[in-house]
Amino acid sequence: MKSLALLPPNGPKRPEFKYSTQIHHQPFNFGILKTPEPVPDGEDSLGDYKVLVLKKAISINFRDLSMLFTLNNNLKQSPSGHHFFGSDFVAEVVGIGKKVRSIKIGDRVIPNCDYFIKPMRGVSRKGIPSNRASMAYEFLLEDKLIKIDDDLSDEVAASISIGLQTSYAMIRKAKLKKNSRILVTSGSSNTSLFIIETLKMKGYLPTILTSSQNTFKALKKDGNEVVLYNQLEDIETALRKFNGLNNGFDIVFDPFSDVFFEKLLPFVNVNGKYITCGLYKQKPEFIALNQPGNASLGYLLAHMIMKNVQLIGNCLGNTKDLLNGIEDLKSGRIKVNIENIYQLDNLGPFIEMAFNDKNRMGKVVLKYA
Ligand SMILES: NC(=O)c1ccc[n+]([C@@H]2O[C@H](COP(=O)([O-])OP(=O)(O)OC[C@H]3O[C@@H](n4cnc5c(N)ncnc54)[C@H](OP(=O)(O)O)[C@@H]3O)[C@@H](O)[C@H]2O)c1
Repeated sequence: MKSLALLPPNGPKRPEFKYSTQIHHQPFNFGILKTPEPVPDGEDSLGDYKVLVLKKAISINFRDLSMLFTLNNNLKQSPSGHHFFGSDFVAEVVGIGKKVRSIKIGDRVIPNCDYFIKPMRGVSRKGIPSNRASMAYEFLLEDKLIKIDDDLSDEVAASISIGLQTSYAMIRKAKLKKNSRILVTSGSSNTSLFIIETLKMKGYLPTILTSSQNTFKALKKDGNEVVLYNQLEDIETALRKFNGLNNGFDIVFDPFSDVFFEKLLPFVNVNGKYITCGLYKQKPEFIALNQPGNASLGYLLAHMIMKNVQLIGNCLGNTKDLLNGIEDLKSGRIKVNIENIYQLDNLGPFIEMAFNDKNRMGKVVLKYA
């Protein structure tokens, strides 16, 4: 089988090499490696509970870019090395440990990113099961996988674990009221697209902030309330124009709080909630699209305290969040936004769309089979 891999940015060109590009002005090399089926490790005490999976498709998240930078920097010191990367996938089960009960050979599975699952025999099982989704074969723990049935295509199944589980957890924590006024930032981001879908299913019409013309048009066409801004400095004017002066939001869903929190706090109503799952500046190399604000932490906290605003951090979700999301997908109550689907032999366009295309609005999927 074949696997997508990150190759050293400065090493000699190897037979596996397929594509070079710049991301945030840094050089990256990608290649395709032949990966034989691994032999189970008999000494691994957790082996009995493990499942061997063969990937059918993967998709990219913002966190994968952050990890790519770490791996790329490591590879500068090992020019003959390589790294696999990625976290969302769909795979076929090709082997199971003696004590695996819930999954059988031939099942299709996706990651279960449950962040609250208890350790088993002292081993933590919190969070995302794989940071090497692009590796064709992988041994993973049974309870870090969710079996999915044929109702969901490979491209959809490969796109949902992180985004669906996180967005359902964020909405659960928001404890929405009937008339809650809701703002969602970064409308093109996958996390926000999942949040928007789910809010609409629940009967809410959120206001969506985006810097992308493409997303502005697409979401407006779908009947959403969308506010377009160009530079971060324009957000206040854009929101006031759209929203009036005295009409704030009860809930803000924000995947990039280092970018937006300071700008949006004045727009959060008394007793409002600000729910965030992430930051933009995850690596020093990431070029800031906008200059960070200069308000002190004390000023922001005072503002929050005086308005009784709750700031809620959220990492991933629980198993029920993912299962609820899958049920809603299967019944057609929500959909997954997929921007494009690529095959392994079309690597360049996949990499560009996943990591460099500013017009992207949805998941970018790479199919292995
Ligand atoms: N902790 C968790 O459990 C968890 C889970 C999922 C995601 N996250 C976090 O959530 C965030 C979003 O992840 P994702 O995979 O959904 O992202 P994504 O799909 O890659 O989002 C890309 C979009 O985000 C907006 N954006 C990116 N950089 C920006 C900047 N500097 N300034 C303003 N807007 C910017 C743009 O939206 P517009 O074009 O609409 O302006 C851009 O099109 C990341 O921080 C990620 O780590 C965390």
